[in-house]
Amino acid sequence: EMAEKAGYPHFMLKEIHEQPRAIRDAIHGNAGIIRSVAEEIAKYDRVFIVAMGTSYHAGLVAKYLFQRLAKKVPIVEDASEFRYEFEELVDGNTLVIAITQSGETADTLAAMKLARRKGAKVLAIVNVVGSMATRIADFTLYTHAGPEIGVAATKTYTTQLTVLTMLAIELARVLGTADQGYLDELEAELSAVPELVERALRHEASLRELAEELKDKRDFFYIGRGISVPTALEGALKLKEISYIHAEGLSAGELKHGPLALLEDGVPVVAIAPSGKTFDKIVSNIEESRARGAFIISIGDREELGRISDVFVQMPEMDELLTPIVYIVPLQILAYHLSVLRGNDPDKPRNLAKSVTVE
Ligand code: G6P
Repeated sequence: EMAEKAGYPHFMLKEIHEQPRAIRDAIHGNAGIIRSVAEEIAKYDRVFIVAMGTSYHAGLVAKYLFQRLAKKVPIVEDASEFRYEFEELVDGNTLVIAITQSGETADTLAAMKLARRKGAKVLAIVNVVGSMATRIADFTLYTHAGPEIGVAATKTYTTQLTVLTMLAIELARVLGTADQGYLDELEAELSAVPELVERALRHEASLRELAEELKDKRDFFYIGRGISVPTALEGALKLKEISYIHAEGLSAGELKHGPLALLEDGVPVVAIAPSGKTFDKIVSNIEESRARGAFIISIGDREELGRISDVFVQMPEMDELLTPIVYIVPLQILAYHLSVLRGNDPDKPRNLAKSVTVE
């Protein structure tokens, strides 16, 4: 087993470090076919995205990508809700995009079957070749991440985001909804994301030290705005899954509407704060949390974050639309080390399964 882990103590850590390679493979593996898929899905006005768990968070990121680039607003639902709430709205003019790493999640498969039964087209974004989802779908895009053994999804998430970003860019090209020059630049920047992830991985030693400092905390809050809201949710999910620390991810604007009451001295608040149109807004949220004594960990590209945070994790500059792929990496590493330091096995968290094949 040690050989399979390539010298890493756990599969999860190995898989975190495989992300630059996995993202490169996702790009190369889909470059030749993304155009035809985009042309096919451009015809549909009503788009649903269905998924569970981490794949659902990828769907939430896709919503921002589709809105901003293709001016299409997909309805993103966790597949267990979609099955029972949206049946009436699905017809021959509907496209359903199902995101599932394993291709075997019961709720996601059921949502796909329902969609097909109602005459909708189904696109699956899947990692496991030949899995059930690929057999139900009309067409499939693979994430090419390679096998993922750790229960907590890491490289399958960042490759899902990569494929969804490619799809949104191509859809915008087909529909003519964004400046072509900008789309070309964004695509070029996406192909440099593996190097940006490499750079994010270099924070591992300091994140391990941070984990040492935070390992006895009871609650964590993860805040973000816009396209970083799903990163906040996914960061919190990673922590819950493997460290068993209670964590909440939320839109920073929602802090004032309840969660602020829970902030007191030393409670960690992780702020996902890339440059972008709401940067100043999240700075105010950081300040309001700090005023309540919260311990601020900020992730961003602007030096000034260092002055208002207890810990600042500096990210390279990039287009805001690409930040979800890179910014989740330090949050995966932090969750991993908190899990290990608390004596857990991050590869096999209690009560959880790699794929949930029953409803
Ligand atoms: C389980 C796993 C999660 C995963 C979710 C959806 O809960 O523990 O890591 O995100 O299922 O799985 P899927 O294979 O459909 O992406």
